[in-house]
Amino acid sequence: KKAKMIVEKDFKVSEVDKRIYGSFVEHLGRAVYGGIYEPDHPTANEQGFRQDVIELVKELDVPLVRYPGGNFVSGYNWEDGVGPKKDRPRRLELAWRTIETNEIGTNEFMDWAKLVNADVNMAVNLGTRGADAARNLVEYCNHPSGTYYSDLRRSHGYQDPHNIKTWCLGNEMDGPWQMGQKTAVEYGRIANEAGKVMKLVDPTIELVACGSSSRTMPTFADWEATVLDLSYDQVDFISLHQYYGNRDNDVANYLARTLEMEDFIQSVISIADYIKAKKRSKKTINLSFDEWNVWYHSNEADQKIEPWSIAPPQLEDIYNFEDALLVGSMLITLLKHADRVKIACMAQLVNVIAPIMTENGGPAWKQTIFYPYMHASKYGRGTVLNPIVSSPKYDSKDFTDVPVLDTTAVYNEEQEELTIFAVNRDLEGCLQLDCDIRNFADYKIVEHIVLENDDLKQVNTATKQAVVPHTNGNASLDSGLITASLPKLSWNVIRLK
Ligand code: AHR
Repeated sequence: KKAKMIVEKDFKVSEVDKRIYGSFVEHLGRAVYGGIYEPDHPTANEQGFRQDVIELVKELDVPLVRYPGGNFVSGYNWEDGVGPKKDRPRRLELAWRTIETNEIGTNEFMDWAKLVNADVNMAVNLGTRGADAARNLVEYCNHPSGTYYSDLRRSHGYQDPHNIKTWCLGNEMDGPWQMGQKTAVEYGRIANEAGKVMKLVDPTIELVACGSSSRTMPTFADWEATVLDLSYDQVDFISLHQYYGNRDNDVANYLARTLEMEDFIQSVISIADYIKAKKRSKKTINLSFDEWNVWYHSNEADQKIEPWSIAPPQLEDIYNFEDALLVGSMLITLLKHADRVKIACMAQLVNVIAPIMTENGGPAWKQTIFYPYMHASKYGRGTVLNPIVSSPKYDSKDFTDVPVLDTTAVYNEEQEELTIFAVNRDLEGCLQLDCDIRNFADYKIVEHIVLENDDLKQVNTATKQAVVPHTNGNASLDSGLITASLPKLSWNVIRLK
């Protein structure tokens, strides 16, 4: 099969907001305890943080980490996690039916984020709590000194404010599983009022309102419209959450899921802009895709976990090669919408549906999905271009006209680099790509990275990295025309400089 594309310097989608390469650490399973924090681990630093994990997170170059939940946050008392550790309460954690020791809380997490060079996207509890706890947390984190909560922070050893800029107004408040679930009207009002007092404490912060927990929620679309109608002036972003799985082992259909993701993004943009029009507002609400990934492998195992233990192995999906392809395609989808998707968080970062896995007391290692995430984060900075693509198409169970080639290009003007990301969705054979890069004619190919594997179900383990990228892709450039064979079912990164 053959595909063609034209990449033009001036056909710009938007600057990439680096926050689209964000991730997520929730107090859930072994994400925190046994993941980022394990004081007895041989690589632990003086604060108990695993330095082997820190190194892997730095390889991913994660600019933003959402914390501390997720469903966890809807029952969380942030005060439990600050101050002397010996005084911190052990609590029943009702979202995931575990025991939370509170050894790690806001200040420790901010220290960890600094070590990995990330900012924090802090979520407040609008489930069992409300505006009062939220504004107090903003004061604790961001006010310099001279008030009750800022001085409390200083008394806990943190003289300087954390200056957290991005805040989530609760989590998945439409979901029946959520502690303190709300109707759209109830949530829209509390998002507005909590947002108002949080911004009164620190007007420089940006706020993310909860959109639907997924596109399949029965209240989807009405939820977004109502929530934004009631909170438009206070909030800056509306969130999207979506996970996919290949439950019926239909690869062609699975790899086409990003068409649905695309539709989800387009729909939320339309709803946000409808409310903008209704209000005759000058302000535009952007999108925060603050939970996205593959999540299904661990569903069965999670049913068997005994409740009320500390840091059990929950949501430990072991990802295979085909998952890496879908994750690559999800990253391309986010990039294609870089004009409106300004934040996105892969859910999650360590052990819990994560690119990085650890063994307690043992090694940390890279899952298959680590690689496309790392490539996009490293090479996908700059301006997203809008290539003209002509690709063969296929139909699958739920989709028609699925392009075999899923692709986008990012131009980094400062570094004078052009990167083409491409997934070949074809199940049968390699895709011959001709790519006209007309006004990058003097560029040279730096490398053509390929992630491929004969076995779609191949996984990586603590002892074997069976799915790893190579740089033997055959892309070549002649008079402004790249020709490349994209192997059957592969993730490709063609880098030019
Ligand atoms: O990321 C795992 C869970 O998925 C989060 O806690 C929740 O927000 C979502 O349902």
